[in-house]
Amino acid sequence: MCGIVAYLGTREAPPILIEGLKRLDYRGYDSAGVVVIKGGGLVVRRSVGRIAALEEKLDAQIAGARVGMAHTRWATHGAPTEGNAHPHRDASGRLAIVHNGIIENYRVLKQYLETQGITMESQTDTEVLAKLIGHFYEGNLEDAVRRALRESRGTFGIAAIHADEPNKIVAARRGSPLIVGVGDAEYIIASDAAAIVQHTSQVIYLADNEVAIVTPEGFKTTNLEATPVDKHVDELEYTLEQLELGGHQHFMSKEIFEQPESLRTCMRGRIDLDDSRVVLGGLTSVARELINTKRIILTACGTAWHAGLVGEYLIEELARIPCETEYASEFRYRNPVIDFGTTVLAISQSGETIDTLAASREGRDKGALVLGIVNAVGSTIARETDAGVYLHVGPEIGVASTKAFTGQVAVLAMLAGFLGRRRHLSHERLHEYLEALAGIPEKIAHTLNLNNQCRHIAADFVNSENWLYLGRGIQYPVALEGALKLKEISYIHAEGLPAAEMKHGPIALISEDMPVVVLAPRGHWYDKSVGNIEEVRSRGGRVIAVATEGDTEIQHIAEHVLYVPDVPELLGPLVTVIPLQMLAYHAAVLRGCDVDKPRNLAKAVTVE
Ligand code: G6P
Repeated sequence: MCGIVAYLGTREAPPILIEGLKRLDYRGYDSAGVVVIKGGGLVVRRSVGRIAALEEKLDAQIAGARVGMAHTRWATHGAPTEGNAHPHRDASGRLAIVHNGIIENYRVLKQYLETQGITMESQTDTEVLAKLIGHFYEGNLEDAVRRALRESRGTFGIAAIHADEPNKIVAARRGSPLIVGVGDAEYIIASDAAAIVQHTSQVIYLADNEVAIVTPEGFKTTNLEATPVDKHVDELEYTLEQLELGGHQHFMSKEIFEQPESLRTCMRGRIDLDDSRVVLGGLTSVARELINTKRIILTACGTAWHAGLVGEYLIEELARIPCETEYASEFRYRNPVIDFGTTVLAISQSGETIDTLAASREGRDKGALVLGIVNAVGSTIARETDAGVYLHVGPEIGVASTKAFTGQVAVLAMLAGFLGRRRHLSHERLHEYLEALAGIPEKIAHTLNLNNQCRHIAADFVNSENWLYLGRGIQYPVALEGALKLKEISYIHAEGLPAAEMKHGPIALISEDMPVVVLAPRGHWYDKSVGNIEEVRSRGGRVIAVATEGDTEIQHIAEHVLYVPDVPELLGPLVTVIPLQMLAYHAAVLRGCDVDKPRNLAKAVTVE
């Protein structure tokens, strides 16, 4: 989703801005633009499509500037055209802004501006905001920005410059992330740490309704009423290497293969096998309240929602606490019943998904204990929740989530163990479970050997336009996740189902053109899953089974078998999801799709 990069310093701004935009391009966008202050005025260049198209427009007129801003736009209001691309200017043409988010009352503001004789050139809400700031401008940019934002409803991360104050950038946020990187005699403001990390590891995370003003003399932060706000300078967790491909063709492949290591980091220091306990430092302050919770609502979107479904099984089974997993977008709007003793658990890789954030606020406003399971350190959900657990799986760049999913499941598995012991699990049973959990990275490393076989299977079915994924019990969410991975990146239609539901309709679809992936690891759902394979076979369907190593029987009924190592049933999703990630990856590569940047998708959905 939209990206912002702004630079003020002693170096040439345009290359830094373009490099920054490229670091953000994994988030998804459809047009891009840049503005600099030069020769006493603004120079703007915009283009539709990839950043490379914008780069071609960077001529001598723009070169050499020391202050500028750039933006990648993911269209919400108005089509992805050059005219709608950011930056947008005020009526004087001397003020420009870049903006992420949505100004919800832009129509009213636009009508007001029109009565003042100010007309719009684009269909965007952003241009309205730019013109409003310009309308209020009386020689001091931060005053005008604050005043306009006080009139604005909705979400924003913005950066603004004015040619009359050529050594200043004003940035502000509400709902959309914005980070100020503090370098050596320079500032890089961006919507994502990925655009900052190569310049500095010192950052300031702006909170909602805060404004940062940077000049060569330093920075200051205020709220929208101009009251100064003291901010810490934090250390970034990212390293530059984590943002490179490291020999892989795509970030998705790199991230799939990173999973043994990312899970080791995720669990490091949190599983104490000597004392058979789980140590989740981020929950210490709320441990008592959490242990006594009567009900847990897990809320999330997309892949994180699938992880939540796995978590529901784990927590109910190990801790016997009633759980419900809710789509954040539904939960936030349906006036949910949250009674005393409810815990809301918001799960999000980015920590910025607007629906998940709103769902956690709904929980907070209704008095629940609100926890976050988040990957991006310092993100909004991480900061707004009462307490939480970071995934620590490193930055995830591929739009299709892989290592964040296994990280989320691993954190939920640790949480289930933590709660289980305090509820009813014996010391021995917890020890056995934790030992198996700590051994999962090894099992995943072994599972990654299926890569070639997955490539062959994907090649075999690459022209099939419909796939079905079936799973039972704790493997049902894995079926959903496998189907989501395939459709996201290869644009093949895929559906995930609880296996028994197939009989209630989808069975009508079965034919030899329909690959059916059946999750059938050993466990108490095994016989029933084999029954489902038979049903598919007898209707001419072609089955790809994911089964436990040593299960030779299943070879007789499934056309392909992907063997995964034997792990306890409750931890099964952590290994069975791996071949499904690889199948989707190879199908997308074989179909020539842009694996890391699938069409129409964004890495973090920060608008509704
Ligand atoms: C987008 C991404 C998905 C992701 C979902 C939730 O739709 O494309 O991959 O699962 O958002 O994102 P979050 O950052 O909250 O986990």
